[in-house]
Amino acid sequence: SRYARITGTGSALPTRRVTNADMAAELAQRGLETSDEWIVERTGIRARHFAAPDQTSSDLGAEAARRAIEAAGRQAQDVDLIIVATSTPDMVFPSTATIVQRKLGIQGCPAFDVQAVCSGFIYALSVADAMIRTGAANCALVIGAEVFSRILNFEDRTTCVLFGDGAGAVLLEASAEPGILATKLHADGRYREILEVPGTVSGGQVIGSPLLTMDGQAVFKLAVTVLGEVANEVLEAAGRSAASVDWLIPHQANVRIMQGTARKLKLPMEKVVVTVQEHGNTSAASIPLALDQAVRAGQVQRGQTLLLEGVGGGFTWGAVLLDF
Ligand code: ACO
Repeated sequence: SRYARITGTGSALPTRRVTNADMAAELAQRGLETSDEWIVERTGIRARHFAAPDQTSSDLGAEAARRAIEAAGRQAQDVDLIIVATSTPDMVFPSTATIVQRKLGIQGCPAFDVQAVCSGFIYALSVADAMIRTGAANCALVIGAEVFSRILNFEDRTTCVLFGDGAGAVLLEASAEPGILATKLHADGRYREILEVPGTVSGGQVIGSPLLTMDGQAVFKLAVTVLGEVANEVLEAAGRSAASVDWLIPHQANVRIMQGTARKLKLPMEKVVVTVQEHGNTSAASIPLALDQAVRAGQVQRGQTLLLEGVGGGFTWGAVLLDF
């Protein structure tokens, strides 16, 4: 049998670190009030990184990719598939994946973007897993890369304090041993309005708002429900129990959503990788960024079972269970 295994991880963060106090000062200039206490208590976020004005998703994605390739002991030339999950692409087209490919100095292999907002990395990893298992690819770069600071409305204190920029990547290779054990994806387009950037480009203009809007409470309720359900679906598909999970690596949106999911799975918070305090919500980048930090910190180790899960605009959600 043929499986897909993560052989290397990498990540990248912009150098500019913005604390809650920095955000409060920024908002105060616009006559808006927020505080470190409010943000920490409601979300767990203490800081986030914002990209430099000329820094793009492909810049961060390529940097994360180089680190993942190096960690796997491979060369860029070994890569035969590139999938980038992003909602903040460099441009309308071509895809950010083809721009990353060029920055890595390789050509010929397929490269494309996946758009599932904060579930994007779970979607991209599931697609790469399927392509490796069917023999369509042997060595896939799966990247989540975002510059959400570009689509934030700094006049809206309920959303602008929540997000950050960054990228994470994994190298996924064909293997006789697992590897990815099960994947499950979902979407429900009826929930579009609770989290969206409704604008588009048409006739040489931006039509509609190019900034993020969110109904935070609706997102919160739905997120906790679907994350609990989809976690159980992948565990059942793989014939594993929640007790067999060494690490839950959830999308890093809000520590209270993560606590709610852990409670549903009866997992102690000691088994949950939490990086939201330093990164904010980096959308499709959050899971591979958290994974790479946990690997490099020596928390996540070879042979352990990991449950990755994401939820985001669409509404979309999904989970991946794997032996690392
Ligand atoms: N600073 C200070 N006060 C604020 C701020 C702020 N930044 N933002 C809102 N408030 C105020 C509100 O105006 C409100 O005041 P009021 O009672 O006088 O009207 C009060 O705080 C409470 O606001 P709520 O919206 O009820 O606060 P809530 O407890 O729901 O927390 C939050 C808001 C953090 C957005 C929460 O709903 C949440 O975490 N939702 C999940 C959304 C999420 O994580 N989305 C990430 C993207 S989606 C994804 O990745 C899946």
